[in-house]
Amino acid sequence: MHSDRVYITTPIYYVNDRPHIGHCYTTTIADAAARLARLRFPGAVFFLTGTDEHAEKVVTTAAERGLTPIQWADRNAEQFRLAFERIGISNDDFIRTTQDRHKAKVHEYIRRLMASGDIYLGEYSGWYDVNQEEYLTETAAKEANYHSPVTGRPLVQRSEPNYFFNLPKYAAALHEKIAGDPLFVLPEARRNEVLGRLRDGLQPVPVSRPVTADPATQFGIRMPGDESHRIYVWIDALFNYLSCVDTPERRAFWPPQVHLIGKEILWFHCIIWPALLMALGEKLPRSIYAHSFWVRDGRKMSKSLGNFIDLELLAAYSDRYSIDAVRWYLITQGPLGATDADFSHAKFVEVYNADLANGLGNCASRVANMIGKYFGGRVPEPVAGPHAGSDFSELCRIAFRDVVDGAERFDYAEAFRAGIRLVTAIDGYINATEPFKLAKKIDPANLDDPARRELGRILWNCAESLRVATLLLSPVLPNKAADLFKAWGLPASRSGLERGFGVAPASLPTLEDLCTFGGPHGLKPGHALIEPDAKPIPLFARADPAEEPPKAA
Ligand code: MSP
Repeated sequence: MHSDRVYITTPIYYVNDRPHIGHCYTTTIADAAARLARLRFPGAVFFLTGTDEHAEKVVTTAAERGLTPIQWADRNAEQFRLAFERIGISNDDFIRTTQDRHKAKVHEYIRRLMASGDIYLGEYSGWYDVNQEEYLTETAAKEANYHSPVTGRPLVQRSEPNYFFNLPKYAAALHEKIAGDPLFVLPEARRNEVLGRLRDGLQPVPVSRPVTADPATQFGIRMPGDESHRIYVWIDALFNYLSCVDTPERRAFWPPQVHLIGKEILWFHCIIWPALLMALGEKLPRSIYAHSFWVRDGRKMSKSLGNFIDLELLAAYSDRYSIDAVRWYLITQGPLGATDADFSHAKFVEVYNADLANGLGNCASRVANMIGKYFGGRVPEPVAGPHAGSDFSELCRIAFRDVVDGAERFDYAEAFRAGIRLVTAIDGYINATEPFKLAKKIDPANLDDPARRELGRILWNCAESLRVATLLLSPVLPNKAADLFKAWGLPASRSGLERGFGVAPASLPTLEDLCTFGGPHGLKPGHALIEPDAKPIPLFARADPAEEPPKAA
């Protein structure tokens, strides 16, 4: 990863939809990636999400409700913003395609492309998917039996004067990039899919729609210098990634480290968008990562089936199990690679209990409890010499590497599981060394009792490794990590909660420094971790698998 600047994006979501698990999923993995990047490269990260608003559906739905398109868009964009706030998303900006800052930049880009001849006026006719607002190629339309592959509704023939983008001009360059750079389109299955489709050849892409008396055609950004056309919503939307950082203060963030998207919008992101960037002479994103889909009982989630995991249901889960637990489930069990993932309550409870309640939560309580009981709540002296049982400085190094390497491969599930593996190692070490038994052997009159020193060594190993594990888990569990750091009297500022971007203050330690076991940022012997004999506050209460699943309010 380039450490000078890290720019991470999510798709911008259709403002006509209500936020659901799919939107929350992409945004949560992007959030964990951004938080981890902020820990690694403080001050050098920019994370963007937002809403895509110039769709015909926005106009028609607004009209049904007696609202203007922008009133309806305002209302729904706010729903997305709130939804993301609720799940702890730390985006640095929220772009809306109806904002002037975006519209002005889109005009600028289109003008540049018209001046270079990459965009020109022509005539288009073809099969149109009204709901998806997209034309299908003849091959794709035929394959789908002239019905929308998404909604199943019949496609319609449309013919209209249009501005076109000369996509075929970039076919060779696109092929070279995608075939030659294995990190450009990920995962591998999606890269092969794009390369396969490229072989069918490329057609010029219509980038405008005519404006008519129908109000639905009047919402959108007009073609510069031609009020009778508006810019096709997809072209307008793709530009958000650039328009948002195309300012003197943010320009250095270009190009993005990764565009995180769902697999259904692969073509726009891997073919049309890079070609537009080539035409503009802009650098290409480092990677485009397209994950798969959340499904329910093996079936696509849809309004008609009424099987959506919507925001209300996710809120009910987070009310019962905490926001961080929902984030953990989404990130570790989600459809990251090339296969879809089923949302299952039983799995949620299983993972929650194993990783969080009986994992991190219980381990933190055990360690704090013993330090409270045997050392008056103060961190014991790290005793030099071979570690009894396990080499935690090595285990912490491995965990750090696994988290960082996993995230670089966009395998966030595997990456963050490394944090829990460290917790499991600590638990195993406690079970093997039985500090609670050792404590009974200590002679209270003898301060130099070797059993006391051994007990101190064990608990120091545990507490210090747990600090590292918590830090490594904080991008997924920002609230619980902050709670634990606070309970232990450690500064929360390094728990991944910090926001903002800019030039990194040189004094801030890197994540590697922070994760160094017993390093300068480690626990200090004598530090008051807990009140003597106090009961640690449980981080995650155990879930009862027999309890009824939460219901949306
Ligand atoms: N507005 C376009 C994207 C423009 S980007 C320049 C769009 N919006 S959308 O509201 O339909 O959101 C699509 C994205 O939401 C997917 O690419 C994916 O990131 C997420 N998901 C929507 N449903 C999903 C699932 N069922 N499962 C996982 N994520 C999916 O397309």
